[in-house]
Amino acid sequence: MILKNMTKDLVVEKSTQNEVVDASSFALKVENLSKIYDSSAGRVVALDNVSFAIKKGEFVSVVGPSGSGKSTVLNLVGALDRPTSGKIYIDGIDIFSLGDAEIATMRNGRIGFIFQSFNLINRTTVLKNVKLPGIIAGMSSEEVNSRSIKILEALGIADKKNQKPVNLSGGQQQRVAIARSLINNPTIILADEPTGNLDTKTGEDVFDMLKMLSHKFKRTIVMVTHNPELAESTDRSILLRDGRIEKDVIN
Ligand SMILES: Nc1ncnc2c1ncn2[C@@H]1O[C@H](COP(=O)(O)OP(=O)(O)OP(=O)(O)O)[C@@H](O)[C@H]1O
Ligand SMILES: [Mg+2]
Repeated sequence: MILKNMTKDLVVEKSTQNEVVDASSFALKVENLSKIYDSSAGRVVALDNVSFAIKKGEFVSVVGPSGSGKSTVLNLVGALDRPTSGKIYIDGIDIFSLGDAEIATMRNGRIGFIFQSFNLINRTTVLKNVKLPGIIAGMSSEEVNSRSIKILEALGIADKKNQKPVNLSGGQQQRVAIARSLINNPTIILADEPTGNLDTKTGEDVFDMLKMLSHKFKRTIVMVTHNPELAESTDRSILLRDGRIEKDVIN
């Protein structure tokens, strides 16, 4: 088991003075979220009044046809874009009530992103890629270094630390992206088709890694996937259609 060496200190609970103490244990709450794209090409209702909540430690898949709003919802939760209306709470914090600088800090510290195309920086090393969000968060250089190495070891790719990501296989690159997403011990990990660019076996390995993070280390994960088998292996699936929730089922 690749994660057998992952030590408990990689996943400590986070709390800050800003935290709104909420009796519920929701990592994420989405309320009446809508996103309308208006352009010369026309008006697209990408999300239409979507509400859901995700408990700490839940592993949720988001499924639905192409164009149903899956990436839109993830991008809004990750504060990469702003909604037309509605609210998103992460750790009880209304994220769009924050200023741009606070949003950037919150995103770097509380949200881990994993993308289909890895989005790694290829001109620098694997180790630096993993360290970067920690450096931005102001972690000391010793801490960021030792945490990065521990996570890379836990994910079985410490021997690649001085390589450039572009020279790694797809599965290895995605593990680097997972390592990077973990460095700041985020409240929530958002993964948009993380296995979409991988062959079946490698995709399953990456998925197993996310599942392990969820079950063994209680990470909260929201994963978009087109793969019905992977979706069924998560705790819960939210099915989007035409920007609305058609089904929300426990698996
Ligand atoms: N920047 C944009 N400008 C205009 N329309 C957009 C923009 N981004 C997304 N859309 C539209 O919003 C809708 C939802 O798109 P979204 O990318 O969320 O779909 P998706 O479910 O992730 O699809 P896929 O499975 O193909 O990745 C689509 O109709 C899309 O064309
Ligand atoms: Mg998408």
